[in-house]
Amino acid sequence: MRGLHRVKMRVNGRDYELEVPGHERLLDTLRYRLGFTGVKEGCGRGECGTCIVLVNGEPRNSCLTLTARLDGAEVTTIEGIAPPGKLHAIQVAFIETAGVQCGFCTPGFIMVAKALLDRNIDPSEEEIRNWLTSVLCRCGSYHLYIDAVKKASEYLKKGVVFIDERDVREKLHLRVVG
Ligand code: FES
Ligand code: FES
Repeated sequence: MRGLHRVKMRVNGRDYELEVPGHERLLDTLRYRLGFTGVKEGCGRGECGTCIVLVNGEPRNSCLTLTARLDGAEVTTIEGIAPPGKLHAIQVAFIETAGVQCGFCTPGFIMVAKALLDRNIDPSEEEIRNWLTSVLCRCGSYHLYIDAVKKASEYLKKGVVFIDERDVREKLHLRVVG
């Protein structure tokens, strides 16, 4: 069909062949074509960072990225950072520090944290602060996110990358009743 672009992309470890209009945003492809609704739209104009995903390992605002330009790219969303039944250490660290209020911005923060920790497993507080500036949190939980990234760094330094969801639930339950 006229005006459509063929794009082959790998998203969260699975290959897709798509036909998309030239103006289609990666945000819409991920949410509405492929069902990765962990990708959130806030401002829609590159300011809030809630839509950040990794493209070839780099954090990108998916609201400003055209899918038609991503032929051959590898994209990772929050749904793809841990295998089924497990959570990534960064997700667990965010839960444990209660670094979430409404949670709308959380996928963006976690994807930025992942990009940072993939490059440097032991970042300084200054580095963490600098990287986290690319996401806005309306609830203002920044200090908790900084603690969460530090905690995730501790997990990763011990070689703990993925944690069974059941263990996390059990731990949270024990914390609530204990
Ligand atoms: S929705 Fe993309 S930066 Fe705000
Ligand atoms: S927790 Fe609500 S916007 Fe960040």
